Amino acid sequence: MENNKYLFGASGHAKVVLDVLFSNNIKVVTILDDNPNVIELSKIPVLQSKLFKIEKNQEFIISIGNNSIRKKIVDSNNFSYYSAIHSDATVSKFATIDEGTVVMPQVVINADAKIGKHCIINSRSVVEHDCVLEDYVHVSPNASLAGNVTIGEGTQIGIGSSVIQGITIGKWATIGAGAVIINDVPDYAVVVGNPGKIIKIKTK
Ligand SMILES: CC(C)(COP(=O)(O)OP(=O)(O)OC[C@H]1O[C@@H](n2cnc3c(N)ncnc32)[C@H](O)[C@@H]1OP(=O)(O)O)[C@@H](O)C(=O)NCCC(=O)NCCS
Repeated sequence: MENNKYLFGASGHAKVVLDVLFSNNIKVVTILDDNPNVIELSKIPVLQSKLFKIEKNQEFIISIGNNSIRKKIVDSNNFSYYSAIHSDATVSKFATIDEGTVVMPQVVINADAKIGKHCIINSRSVVEHDCVLEDYVHVSPNASLAGNVTIGEGTQIGIGSSVIQGITIGKWATIGAGAVIINDVPDYAVVVGNPGKIIKIKTK
């Protein structure tokens, strides 16, 4: 029997995840959210998360755009997860995509790319061959990763940015909108501009 599909998080990002699921004719039973005042999203009922009972054959995607909140929710629950790829994305049969990850429309993911758990590969982004993305990475719309790029846990690659081949970006870093990354980036760094320069190191 097919598992019942759920989302956790009734945010704007959840609307986009729902469209990914609709493109595959996947029906979401219920969306959970901490906020008791939200009762519906895109015509799907929203249930306050603390009222939810975990049972067998339920699977989740955490539909929250913020990488650290997504991780917090995964760490504090014992859910099973599914992943979803929009029907209009192009994903190599040699790429791997782990549980909880969503791939938005018109994304291209090329051969031998490895994408971790609970990542967001957002609309029209490109993940080239042999890239390795750890868990909770978000590649924002129109960002491009050239071949053999490695990205650490929880890092956000900003909208419209580009990363040249072979670069290593650390964990929980932020690449600014439109940045061009030509040097490795350390953990927790915030990098903007062309060529990308570090403007701060975030506290953990
Ligand atoms: C990089 C970023 C995280 C910085 O945010 P912040 O920490 O709040 O930084 P601030 O807005 O205080 O800006 C600090 C400085 O960096 C500059 N800066 C910020 N973002 C920049 C960018 N993308 N490109 C160039 N310069 C940028 C600011 O102009 C400011 O410069 P100043 O000190 O000379 O005035 C943010 O601007 C950004 O680009 N986020 C990406 C958003 C995104 O991709 N969203 C997609 C969602 S799907």
